[in-house]
Amino acid sequence: MTRRAVVRGVGHYLPEKVIENSHFESTLETTDEWIRARTGIERRHFAAEGETTSDLATHAANAALAHAGLTAEDIDAIVVATSTADLTFPSAATMVQAKLGMTRGFAFDVQAVCAGFVYALSNANALIVSGQADRVLVIGAETFSRIMDWTDRTTCVLFGDGAGAVLLEAQDGAGTSADRGILATDLNSDGRFKDLLYVDGGVSTQTTGVLRMEGNQVFRHAVAKLAATAETALDKAGLTASDVDWIVPHQANIRIIQGTAKKMGLPMEKVVVTVQDHGNTSAASIPLAMSVGVANGQIKPGDLIVTEAIGGGLAWGAVVLRW
Ligand code: COA
Repeated sequence: MTRRAVVRGVGHYLPEKVIENSHFESTLETTDEWIRARTGIERRHFAAEGETTSDLATHAANAALAHAGLTAEDIDAIVVATSTADLTFPSAATMVQAKLGMTRGFAFDVQAVCAGFVYALSNANALIVSGQADRVLVIGAETFSRIMDWTDRTTCVLFGDGAGAVLLEAQDGAGTSADRGILATDLNSDGRFKDLLYVDGGVSTQTTGVLRMEGNQVFRHAVAKLAATAETALDKAGLTASDVDWIVPHQANIRIIQGTAKKMGLPMEKVVVTVQDHGNTSAASIPLAMSVGVANGQIKPGDLIVTEAIGGGLAWGAVVLRW
C-alpha cells in the first residue's frame, strides 16, 4: 500500500466585478484587439474595495468543502499559495482557518508567486505522504489588482483577482501510476532572474510597491521551462505526454499555453483554458482552472492531469496527478 494525496473536492470564487479589456482603452494607449491577440485575455475580475485575499480564499475553501461533502472540522491543515496576503503577518492561511471556524490543525502560506499553487500542492502532498496530515485544503488566492501600476500598459492589463481550492485526502494506492492522487512533483527556481518579474517594494524597504516585468524575457523562459518541468514530472511518475488527459497550465498568456502544449506534442483539445475570462490570477490560476474544468465536465475522475506554472523568482514546477 502506498499513501497517496487524492483530490476529494475542488471549488473556486471570483469577485463580482468584471473588467472587460475595453475598460483600459480610455486610460491607456491600448486596445481590446491588442490584448486579445497578444495574450488571449478578454476580461478579468477585480476584488471590491475592502475585499481581501483571505476573503476570496475562504469562499473558494467553502466551495471545495461543499464539493467534498466535508466541513472545516474534517481538515487537518490549510496551505494558501499567495503573494498578496491581507497583512505582512499573520498568514492568509490562519485568517482563512479562523473564517472557516476551524479550531484545530495548522495553517501556513507558501509564496512562489505564479508557481505558488504547484509549490503548495507539492508541500501538501509531502504532509500527507509523510503522515503529518490526512486532509489538507490547498488554496491559491490573489488580489493582484492591488499591486498594479495603472499607468503601465505592459502589465496592468494582464492580471486579475480570484481564488481556487483543492481538498486533498490521504487514500491508499497500489504504488503504481494507475493510482489516483499526486503521482510526482518537480520544483525549480533560479534567483538570478529576479529582475525579470518582481514587486519593487516590500516590508524591509518600507514600501508596498507595484509589479514590474520584462514581459518578453519572461515569455522566452516560460515555454522551454514549462515543457521541461512537465516532462520531468511525467518521467518521475513513469509516464509520458501521451498518457496525459489534461494539461492544466498556469493561465498567463494563451501563446505560452499553446507553445508549451505544442512542445509537449499535445493538442489544445487537451488543455484547460480559462485565461480569456480570468486573466493571470497568479497562484489562483491553476485551482481556478481545475474547478472550472470539473464544473464544465472536462476533468473526470481517473483522468491524468499535468499542471505546470512559472513566475517571479524565477520559480517554476509541475505536478502530475490522477484526478
Ligand atoms: N497595448 C498595446 N501595446 C502594448 C501593450 C498593450 N497593453 N503592452 C505592450 N505593448 C507594446 C509594447 O510597448 C511594444 O511596443 P514597442 O514595440 O513600441 O516598444 C509592443 O507592444 C511589443 O511589446 P512586447 O513586450 O515585445 O510584446 P509581446 O508580444 O511580448 O507581448 C506580453 C507582451 C507582456 C503580453 C508578453 O510578453 C507576455 O505575456 N509575457 C509573459 C508575461 C507573463 O505571462 N508573465 C507572468 C508569468 S507568471
